[in-house]
Amino acid sequence: MTRGSDTVVIGAGIVGCAVAYELARAGARVTVLEYGKAGMQATNAAAGMLAPLTETHAPDAMFRAGLQALREYPSLVARLEAEARFSVEYRQTGILNVAFDGEDAARLQRRFAWQREMGLDVEWLDGALCREVEPRLSERVIAGVLSPSEACVSNQLLTLALQRSAEARGALVRERAPVERFLRRSMRGGGRISGVIAAGETFACDTIVLAAGARSGQIAARLGGRVGARLPVRPTRGQMIALGGMLAPIRHVVWGPDGYLVPRANGLIFAGATVEDVGFRRRTTKDGVRRLRAMSRALVPQLAAATVHFEWAGLRPGTPDGLPIIGPLPAHPEVIAATGHYRNGILLGPLTATWSARGILENDWSAVPEEFSPARFASGREP
Ligand code: GLY
Repeated sequence: MTRGSDTVVIGAGIVGCAVAYELARAGARVTVLEYGKAGMQATNAAAGMLAPLTETHAPDAMFRAGLQALREYPSLVARLEAEARFSVEYRQTGILNVAFDGEDAARLQRRFAWQREMGLDVEWLDGALCREVEPRLSERVIAGVLSPSEACVSNQLLTLALQRSAEARGALVRERAPVERFLRRSMRGGGRISGVIAAGETFACDTIVLAAGARSGQIAARLGGRVGARLPVRPTRGQMIALGGMLAPIRHVVWGPDGYLVPRANGLIFAGATVEDVGFRRRTTKDGVRRLRAMSRALVPQLAAATVHFEWAGLRPGTPDGLPIIGPLPAHPEVIAATGHYRNGILLGPLTATWSARGILENDWSAVPEEFSPARFASGREP
């Protein structure tokens, strides 16, 4: 059987679900193909931080996109919650970045200086002031930066809300539907990709959005041609643990040199994350969990008594220059990349979707920073 859509989105993580939502909202016919279960890959392994000021080293294109995404979150959340009729647990918790020694403090100080210079809302605190903000913080903390504008969301509930709202507007989300191959028009028809075969079904379409996270490169390679082979997205494993069994000892996200603690609305503390180059292995390891427990205790000693409620891992989609890849592939303009968000998929997913929907529907990609263009990998020069 053949199904027809305007757009087929490959991947039902936060990026794919957000793209489907934005397209469906504009009246387009959308099918989302997910090889496993929706929202259960890297999207599920995230902690839900919306942290552009914290997850940056420089005031670059990524940073500017992150700030824009953070600003746009509240209106998206309000709209989505009204449509989906459940909370996505968005909270402006703020983030406290802390230092244990002079080297950590110098690193924080450099970032604080340029963010302050830009007029952003960040505050330098000595160790005692850090403990006023978070009384259960380790005595070893010597300084920190408080960034009150940063926030958290339930990555799982947000993705579910995007999926449900897209479906309510007619989008079809197919789970357990791995892409088997692409369909191509004859060379007389321009050789364009005209559909996808997945789970034995044919999905014809005009446009394909590649939002398959760490697997995007492998899938793009099946398009054939030089560009397909050069969508260099690589997996970076992140292991997480959920700590509980006690009243949450912190109110803010606390970020240290070796990891972070995120107090979730359900009372658990999510502690993350390892950064590991281990290919597509998605399991947690004893050593990873041990390191996360040690990192948690070092930041908040009381967490030594917490129990690990669950542990899990996901694969961040990394790129050679650390920037996402968003826009039409030069050799296949009917295929749109929306991937490579590495540590920032939850923050940038909805903004990527807004940009992609405008690009697809109005052929206007001007809002997408040039630095994110797939063209940077097309000519053989890798940035
Ligand atoms: N954004 C947090 C992480 O990737 O670990």
